[in-house]
This record gives sequence, C-alpha cells and structure tokens, in this order.
Amino acid sequence: MNVKQMVGEKAAEYVKDGMVVGLGTGSTAYYLVEALGKRVEKGLTITGVTTSTRTKEQAETLNIPLVDLNDVAKIDLTIDGSDEVSENYQGIKGGGGALLFEKLVANNSEKVIWIVDDSKMVKTLGTFPLPVEIVAFGYKQLFRLFESKNLHPELRLNESKKNYVTDGGHYIIDLHLESIENPHELATWLDGLTGVVEHGLFLDMVNTVIVGHENAVEVLDVR
Ligand code: 5RP
Repeated sequence: MNVKQMVGEKAAEYVKDGMVVGLGTGSTAYYLVEALGKRVEKGLTITGVTTSTRTKEQAETLNIPLVDLNDVAKIDLTIDGSDEVSENYQGIKGGGGALLFEKLVANNSEKVIWIVDDSKMVKTLGTFPLPVEIVAFGYKQLFRLFESKNLHPELRLNESKKNYVTDGGHYIIDLHLESIENPHELATWLDGLTGVVEHGLFLDMVNTVIVGHENAVEVLDVR
C-alpha cells in the first residue's frame, strides 16, 4: 500500500455514522474518498460536501450521498490533503487548483484533518509555490504587481498551455517565494488586494495532521 493510501484510509476511520463530511481534493484525498465509498457500501450513513468537480465525480461514482455547501448548517469534519505543512502547522494548499472551495468548506467545518506524506512537512512554508486565485478580468495587472514586489509570479497553465481555469471560473498565479517568513502578514496583504479571490495560505485551521512515513502513520493533534 502506498503512503497516500495509508493516510487516506487512516483518516477515514475518523468518520462516524451520521456525520456531514467535507471531502478534499487531490491524489491523497482520492484514497480517503475511496475508503469512505467502501464504508458507505457496507452501511455507513454520511453526507459529503465536495471541494471540487473531480471529487464530486469520484464520490458520485461511489454512491456517497452529497449535499451542497449551501444546504448544511455545519460540516462536522473535513479531510483534505495539503502541499506543505510548517513546523507550527500552517499550510499551503491549492496545488491541485481547488483552494477556494477547499477553504470555504474548511472554514465551515468543526474539525479539519490534513493527510500528507512526510515530504510535505517543512520547517518554513514557501518552497512550494503559493497559489493565488484571481479574477480573470485584468489579471495581468495583478501579475505585474506581484512582479514589482519580487514575488516571482507564474500564471498557471493547463495541459493545453491555456490559462488554467478553476472550478470557480478564475485564474491562478503561483508565487515562487522560496520562504515565507511571516505567513499572516502575507495573507493579510493578499486578502486586501482587489482581484484576489483567495490564496493558498491555510492558517490556524488544522486540528489534526496525519503524516504518512514509509512504514508508519503518525497522528499529530495540533489544536
Ligand atoms: C488541491 C489541494 C490538495 O489538497 C493539495 O494540492 C495536495 O494534493 P496531493 O494530495 O495530490 O499532493 O490543495 O487544491
């Protein structure tokens, strides 16, 4: 069994009968959704809230009952992957382009679990490029602003080399920062820019990180 599957299956154990569960996006969350699909087949009663078209399609194939974020009072637990987790448990997400819906779902969840392999545990955030989701209209203006601030922006492209478009209909600029010394300061600045819809800094959010090592799974209860 690969490490992503190990952490996905471990996280599925946290899901209990009757829960409303936020279903993350990405190659690790894939295994969580597969594991939940198997449990649903055996009688587990849950309702899922998906964070992307990809995850929605997967969950539908597995007959996991789904509901729109609009139609839940709250989500009991969201389980998602992450691109980086720092030593103080701040995260970068959005490598898979689903950051906006992922943050909306996480912000409305009682508990958040991230599932990662140990290569994603870092001292300081920033080696992984920081995704910033922006409105398409006039996007080059924000690109130039990021350039002028030496934030090393790169417009994300799809496989056809066209501008990548998120499920929300926006573009993504990835900032190649190498190291983010003050994530809160950067998040506040990005939050204040017109045209920025969301960014991939997921701060003070995660409750439990499940880390996969080659032969073991480690559970870190953070807050
Ligand atoms: C998608 C995400 C993913 O959770 C993140 O990119 C991790 O993905 P993977 O498990 O494939 O490495 O934030 O927007």
